[in-house]
Amino acid sequence: MLQTQLRTHTCGELTLSQVNANVTLCGWVQRSRDLGGMTFIDLRDRYGITQLTFNMESHKEQCEKARKLGREFVIQVKGKVTERSNKNLKIPTGEIELVVEFIELLNASLNPPFTIEDNTDGGEELRMKYRYLDLRREPVRKALELRHKLALEVRQYLDKQKFLEVETPVLIKSTPEGARDFVVPSRMNAGEFYALPQSPQTFKQLLMVGGFDRYFQIVKCFRDEDLRADRQPEFTQIDCEMCFVERKDVLQVFEGMVRHLFRSVKNVDIPALPHITYADAMRNYGNDKPDTRFDMKFVELKSPAPNPEKTIDTVSGKNFKIFDTSPLVAGICAEGCGEYTRKQLDELTEFVKRPQIGASGLVYVRCMNDGSIKSSVDKFYSADDLKKWAEAFDAKPGDLILLLAGETNKTRKALSELRLEMGTRMGLRDPNTFSCLWVVDFPLLEWNEEQQRWYAMHHPFTAPNPEDMHLLETDPGSIRANTYDMVINGVEIGGGSIRIHDKQAQAQVFKRLGFTDQQAQEQFGFLMNAFQYGAPPHGGIAFGFDRLCSLFGGADIIRDYIAFPKNNSGRDVMIDAPSVLDDKQLEELSIKVSLGS
Ligand code: AMO
Repeated sequence: MLQTQLRTHTCGELTLSQVNANVTLCGWVQRSRDLGGMTFIDLRDRYGITQLTFNMESHKEQCEKARKLGREFVIQVKGKVTERSNKNLKIPTGEIELVVEFIELLNASLNPPFTIEDNTDGGEELRMKYRYLDLRREPVRKALELRHKLALEVRQYLDKQKFLEVETPVLIKSTPEGARDFVVPSRMNAGEFYALPQSPQTFKQLLMVGGFDRYFQIVKCFRDEDLRADRQPEFTQIDCEMCFVERKDVLQVFEGMVRHLFRSVKNVDIPALPHITYADAMRNYGNDKPDTRFDMKFVELKSPAPNPEKTIDTVSGKNFKIFDTSPLVAGICAEGCGEYTRKQLDELTEFVKRPQIGASGLVYVRCMNDGSIKSSVDKFYSADDLKKWAEAFDAKPGDLILLLAGETNKTRKALSELRLEMGTRMGLRDPNTFSCLWVVDFPLLEWNEEQQRWYAMHHPFTAPNPEDMHLLETDPGSIRANTYDMVINGVEIGGGSIRIHDKQAQAQVFKRLGFTDQQAQEQFGFLMNAFQYGAPPHGGIAFGFDRLCSLFGGADIIRDYIAFPKNNSGRDVMIDAPSVLDDKQLEELSIKVSLGS
């Protein structure tokens, strides 16, 4: 099927069944060995590696040519498929070799700056600079093959569910909400700028007003934000929207999609996804994207009121100041870690005191194998007190309880980091185990202390929970939104919401977000106007496609699943972008640049 004018087969397909066939292969020289009378070359293409042999006695000229080849030279060879005496059963072509009768050099290569091997000697920056060489390495190729397969299965599933793939524009209008926009100057409209879309959010809603009913797009999005392992300035979403749905419908369709992907790509059947509320996620894991591959839920020994389940306090009044003054004292129980050494406990204390985590200290309670309990606060608490704590944690002999105290949100966040660290140390975060869930009922709004205003936690088009709408003026922070995030192994893989489809309600939310009527009209008038022409109830979701790929590939870093990614400073070091423009170009774009101050 892959036969062309230049080759009959690929380097990955010849086996014993083709012995004695005359074939032509093309590829790159992976490595060569010269044993005097014989020269061996491993020839590589996208499909695999085939061993070539050159015999000095029978094909002197060919053999001499072969000896001159360097790494990554591109050649064409013709010859006979022969059974190998020295078989390599680790590769599919390892039982045969090609005895070469004709060789042609198609192109020479400079010596590559790093080895094209699975475990290359090239550092990150060098590999990115020569990404086209990096792409020849099997792990990178495999990552992009996985990406292709996932995209294909997404399209197949959504097509079956009647979703239409529609392209939306890339040159759009800048809006102040969300992350920073990347902007593009308009030559024809001097002094004006387009923005690149952070997501096709408003367009997909307009497609619903346009009656498209079910839309999806595998689409590039652009966000000028600080980069991390799971963030790129340009990334891809599987963006989806549906009409005439409630939350349950959206969750069902997209749980189905993820189940289909796991089954078709990884041959894994995942159980029904549990739903947990944002409030419970924060209370139990201190995190709105909990890693549920392991349990280790928080237990509160002193909880801030009001705790709807039970307000307890088994720590105050014993002269331990931190516990007396902190609104929250909570911890985790690390099973089987009771015999941690002093050094290990000191390491954990250092860990939580790092500025990024910010705890003031760590209290530990060791449940010894002999049934006794020892703690770092023995001075303040009796054996009976400690026993009560152990009971609250359901701790058994051999377990270790780790406690943090302080301001509620900060302490939960720090304890979440400690939980993840313990999960890693205890080997509970296997990349080949998958734990998926929905986190629902996020707050609609969050208060920005610096700017003294409310921001939409998801985006301003998200519908509030109708039961909470009356709180818009009195207690905006406690309005729950009709939102959902899909979380897999502690990664936010996707997020979405049921949308507002009523002009009045949308105007009220914009007002709460501090927009004047005029500002709302200027920025989102097109959407509010559209809502006056029979907007159907609708909702949707977007998945981070790069994150999905890296999760399926068992990696944390999405860069490896993008053919030409940016580095941590948002640069493409291969093409050297971004770059300065010359004065003439700037003038044409009506841009005056003043560098420095
Ligand atoms: P949200 O902003 O939550 O929602 O984005 C959806 C998903 O996109 C992924 N993601 C990213 N991946 C890589 N690099 C980034 N910089 C990056 N930012 C986000 C995440 C995230 O869950 N329009 C809404 C969706 C909707 O409401 O339908 C939106 O964009 O996996």
